[in-house]
Amino acid sequence: MVSATIEKIARHVGETVELKGWLYNMRESGKLLFPQFRDGTGIIQGVVSAKDVSPEVFEIARGLSQESSVIVQGIIREEKRAPGGFEISVSHLESVQTVSPGDPYPIAPKEHGIEFLLDRRHLWLRSQRQHAILKVRHEVIRAVRDYFDSHDFTLIDTPMFTPAACEGTTTLFEVDYFGQKAYLTQSGQLYNEATAAAFGKTYCFGPTFRAEKSKTRRHLTEFWMVEPEMSFARLEEVMNLAEDFICAIVERVIANRRAELKTLERNMAPLERVQKPFPRLHYDDAVKLLKEKGATFEWGGDFGAPDETLISENFDRPVMVHHYPSQVKAFYMEPDPQRPELACCVDVLAPEGYGEIIGGGERISSYEGLVKRIQEHNLPPEAFTWYLDLRKYGSVPHGGFGMGIERCVAWICGIEHLREAIAFPRTITRNYP
Ligand code: 4AD
Ligand code: MG
Repeated sequence: MVSATIEKIARHVGETVELKGWLYNMRESGKLLFPQFRDGTGIIQGVVSAKDVSPEVFEIARGLSQESSVIVQGIIREEKRAPGGFEISVSHLESVQTVSPGDPYPIAPKEHGIEFLLDRRHLWLRSQRQHAILKVRHEVIRAVRDYFDSHDFTLIDTPMFTPAACEGTTTLFEVDYFGQKAYLTQSGQLYNEATAAAFGKTYCFGPTFRAEKSKTRRHLTEFWMVEPEMSFARLEEVMNLAEDFICAIVERVIANRRAELKTLERNMAPLERVQKPFPRLHYDDAVKLLKEKGATFEWGGDFGAPDETLISENFDRPVMVHHYPSQVKAFYMEPDPQRPELACCVDVLAPEGYGEIIGGGERISSYEGLVKRIQEHNLPPEAFTWYLDLRKYGSVPHGGFGMGIERCVAWICGIEHLREAIAFPRTITRNYP
């Protein structure tokens, strides 16, 4: 017996195959049953006819409840009217585990509240929409890795336990490290700077942690970040890389995950417009733009989510806002030589109100400059001795960025909230399942 997957069922038309999966749905019409099976790769309609199978098999099929696990054998036919275009005429069916009718699968094809679904995230992942989102996520991650691997970056992962803050002390998760204070990493960047000096161009990719006390649709407490870092690079190169990288990811998802984007009812036009060059907007001009649009915004502040939306509304593709005031950015940002109150940094804002997906820039390369900033930010100097070494032994202009995977996935999928862009979201109010 040929074992097949639904995703590749087209190549088995006319053949008798075996499918292993779960019952997704069942329609009954007298001596005919129309079960829908899913196997993790797709959904296919089945037909069980009392005249084609033994009475025992027919009864087993009829007794299946939603999400019962099954092994099905049958012949594959093309069927234009069936969802997906194919059908399996069942000749044999065996139940691996039948869901008890007294304790049915809790997620029925009807509206459930979001908290109900999140409490059952371990099961909710089986539904079509969640499946589509996580397939897109996988494609994004593959595109990310392929992009850096094929552009001469070396993957070097950075530690999760760290002795000091990278992105400000207010969002640190503190842990007891054998009687000493340690923190879960907020970003691998500081370590990337060491690896970039050893390898030229590097990236890290892993989970990062922020004790985000606010409840917003854009913040998780645990999220995945990919961070490239380049030696001998200025802000200009960092922006060029960010732009090229985003175009490559979007192009790849459009090419390989069209079906999933369709399931998500994603409007493709804005994605198809994601082409180089991206507009580049100086912070000063971004503030001007906000004022023209009637926002009350003072030069010198950081943009909130509504400000980012207002700015990005003016553009039909991602916009790169650069040269924010140093006072709203992290301690390591290289000052602009002409206007030292500004940082050589960039935020990439996604279109359609999705806000910042990338943050990055040039790092301070001077020893004295960095010591001064560590003091100004009241950071413990002893935790940064190794980091300062990088400015003593062959310091060079260097820079990079970080992209939050969930922000990117939520934008590409066109979904409202980051919590659906990761399998098991962690937020201020959720650490279950
Ligand atoms: O702008 P951020 O804080 O930059 C850094 O951490 C730099 N050290 C990165 C670097 O230059 N290597 O974070 C980078 C990105 C943001 O643009 C956003 O996409 C994502 O990480 N991000 C979050 N995603 C989900 N939940 C949160 N709480 C996030 N905070 C940041
Ligand atoms: Mg940022």
